[in-house]
Amino acid sequence: MKGFYPVSVAKEAHAVHLKQTDTPLLAAMRHYVEDGAIPFHTPGHKMGKGMHPRLRQFVNSEALALDLALMAELDDLHEPHGCIKAAQDLAAELYGADHSFFVVNGTTGGIYAMILTIAGPKEKIIVPRNAHRSIIGGIILSGATPVFMQPEVDYELGLAMGVTPETVEKAVEQHPDAKGVLIINPTYYGVATDLKRIVDIVHAHNMAVIVDEAHGPHLKFSDRLPLQALDAGADICAQSTHKILGAMTQCSMVHCREGRVNVPRLKAMLQLVQSTSPNYILMASLDVARMQMATEGRQLIERAIDLAEWVRAEINKIPGLYCFGAEKVGNPGVYAFDPTKVTVTVKGLGLKGAEAERILRHKYKVQVELSDMYNILFLITLGDSEREAQALVDALRDLAENHVGKRDFTAVEDVYSTTTYPEPPVQALSPRRALFGNTRMVPFREAAGRICAEIVTFYPPGIPLLCPGEIISEDIIQYCLRLQEAGLHISGPEDYTLSTIKVVE
Ligand SMILES: Cc1ncc(COP(=O)(O)O)c(C=O)c1O
Repeated sequence: MKGFYPVSVAKEAHAVHLKQTDTPLLAAMRHYVEDGAIPFHTPGHKMGKGMHPRLRQFVNSEALALDLALMAELDDLHEPHGCIKAAQDLAAELYGADHSFFVVNGTTGGIYAMILTIAGPKEKIIVPRNAHRSIIGGIILSGATPVFMQPEVDYELGLAMGVTPETVEKAVEQHPDAKGVLIINPTYYGVATDLKRIVDIVHAHNMAVIVDEAHGPHLKFSDRLPLQALDAGADICAQSTHKILGAMTQCSMVHCREGRVNVPRLKAMLQLVQSTSPNYILMASLDVARMQMATEGRQLIERAIDLAEWVRAEINKIPGLYCFGAEKVGNPGVYAFDPTKVTVTVKGLGLKGAEAERILRHKYKVQVELSDMYNILFLITLGDSEREAQALVDALRDLAENHVGKRDFTAVEDVYSTTTYPEPPVQALSPRRALFGNTRMVPFREAAGRICAEIVTFYPPGIPLLCPGEIISEDIIQYCLRLQEAGLHISGPEDYTLSTIKVVE
């Protein structure tokens, strides 16, 4: 069977030359199903036969037959030496990594494993302050001490941009004992920093560069996109293949270079954070997504970029809407831009992002990727065509015609220009110790001097003002109250009214 990679040759995995058109994991799975073995193994639905028809109707019988389990013939994600190893090696070859790993609990799992590999208990890791919750989660799991860097903010858009090389340089100089620097690149909104320069700075201080590349598994496939992490010289990165490319939800990859990354430790940490029963359909979807990108990735991504640029140009003709693009490149924290992320600023319509999201969903059957205070974000991917692009533009045009000029929306914007940003809080405990310590709720207005046990973030721009383990200052309390008064959205604390806050006893 073409592309089949039998376990009998597993030990000679490196000797067998597979082509990028092969999908060794999927081939082994199909061979197993077509061979007709009686399955006395997990999953319990036994190739769909035991599944209730209500679910079986949606997951067809062919897919259910491929819902298989770890066995000699199908290799083991945690000790791969057969078809999974071959599939991961093809991914490494495509992305230019020394090693690639499939991850079935998203980039979240990949980030946990990367942080656990680079920084252990009490060791420092330098991270952007607007870190995704998986980064804070990884720091809590590892017991590392975070050193936060402030990203740049675009107040017109109300969005955090990248962290500049200058900010990184300051952080590594002040913390020469840190084990590594984690960079989010590109951001959810497609903004990339000067990663190559950052890599040079960090490597000069003999630290590892870890990249949260959740939003960049496609960067490799067009010169019109920001540089991918490995090509900028990063040591390790995690990509959400499922977010942008053809893999199924939860499917990500971790790629690494040898040198600054302890690869056996990375493998051990990936084992620690992943199930011993990873889903084979999910893993096979990574195998096939890699093959698709190897064989047609360039044309698919170029098409998505062309489509997104057309959408952007059309949106920018609509009064009341603004869709930022390459004109932002050169601003602080914006070195390059991924045009497939279409961020539409709707404040010119007098609408908040969430209001626009609701109207688009219910009136026009258009679902955004996310909304924030001023913006709605649309992802244009290899799955879109002119039809969807036209429908999006038509919906936005109609939305704008119905709302432009009806309501003003400036009060919130003013709050940042009229309020002094407080001094960053002092860290008293690691996030892990704060989280696992005894905690209690106290009135927020009386919390000065207490150690915070939760995250407090206001949107925009989504950069936490307090993290677990940090001392709450009077300035921060007053700043938060001012933002709350202005109607900004609070995220993180258990009591979202912020009349109380969780602190360490
Ligand atoms: C910047 C960033 N990093 C990491 C993640 C986690 O990725 P996943 O959903 O694949 O676990 C996300 C998810 O949205 C993200 O936006």
